[in-house]
Amino acid sequence: MRRALLALAASTCSGLALVQLGSANSTQASGAGTAPPRSAAPAPASSSLARGRGLFVSSCSACHGISAGGIAGRGPSLVGVGALAADSYLQTGRMPLPSPRAQPVRTRPAFGPAQIDDLVAYVGSLGGPPIPTVSLAAGSLQRGQSLFALDCAGCHTIQAQGGIVTGAVVPSLEPATPRQIAEAIRIGPYVMPRFGEGELSRSDIDSIARFVQSTKSPQNSGGWGLGRIGPIPEGMVAWLLAAAALLLIARLLGERTDDAPPSPEREGSDTA
Ligand code: HEC
Ligand code: HEC
Repeated sequence: MRRALLALAASTCSGLALVQLGSANSTQASGAGTAPPRSAAPAPASSSLARGRGLFVSSCSACHGISAGGIAGRGPSLVGVGALAADSYLQTGRMPLPSPRAQPVRTRPAFGPAQIDDLVAYVGSLGGPPIPTVSLAAGSLQRGQSLFALDCAGCHTIQAQGGIVTGAVVPSLEPATPRQIAEAIRIGPYVMPRFGEGELSRSDIDSIARFVQSTKSPQNSGGWGLGRIGPIPEGMVAWLLAAAALLLIARLLGERTDDAPPSPEREGSDTA
């Protein structure tokens, strides 16, 4: 671990030196004075990393620690979770968490795309898997469906609508992009189990992502939405509504005879 970090630090330093050399050369070539022409050029990786570290210290270190080593009872270590986890949690707005005990839920991202890139670069620099790539075209819908039924539907439902398991709200997968699906599978966020290469290969993930994508535009066979729970509950709702309407009518008829009892003698005496 230490050796890996040292190697990383060394390569970062040499990268930095190269970048600096490059910019020094270009300043000399263009004959510009003291200020390097930073703003014009695309940001080199090293400064993205520095910005990411700055953002991390201000927005994340309270729970994850100044050097991302984790703080007991507040947040786990991020050493080794990789760009994959950082991208997932930041793109879906799960981080920064409002409180250490809260379930991370999907919301609007707290940072813009450039800041997310910087934070991902920083967390990624601590080691761990890169952001995965997914190919929907390479996936098989059939295989995706059977894998999803086996590994995911127990919590997310076969239509990927989500629901509730003990201790957690299971989200609908409607807003999840293929990349976010691949990331969640490898991370296992919150109470979701994580699936490694051994359990689900890259091509399995392509297939699952393709299946989830297909649940987003199901053919609608008519009737009300009712969360697309199927024809039997829909029929039951119709019966319930009809029964309620019949009860109401019966009550109204009953009330009318109660309120105005036909009593011919009283009618005659009242008017006098
Ligand atoms: C209020 C405390 C808190 C703050 C602030 C916070 N986090 Fe977290 N973070 C947590 C907790 C708690 C978890 C574990 C969540 C879980 O169990 O799913 C976590 C998990 C993560 C993970 C997943 C780790 C893994 O094992 O896969 C990443 C990545 C992450 N946080 C990044 C960030 C970044 C980047 C920021 C700043 C923008 C941030 N967090 C701010 C508390 C926090
Ligand atoms: C034990 C129940 C469980 C199983 C099994 C499970 N998940 Fe999840 N999943 C969850 C929970 C709970 C969350 C929310 C995690 C959080 O709050 O951070 C989640 C989150 C996700 C997300 C993130 C959604 C978003 O809005 O960002 C994706 C994508 C996902 N799951 C896909 C899958 C896939 C694909 C499988 C099968 C390979 C699977 N899940 C299996 C419970 C489960």
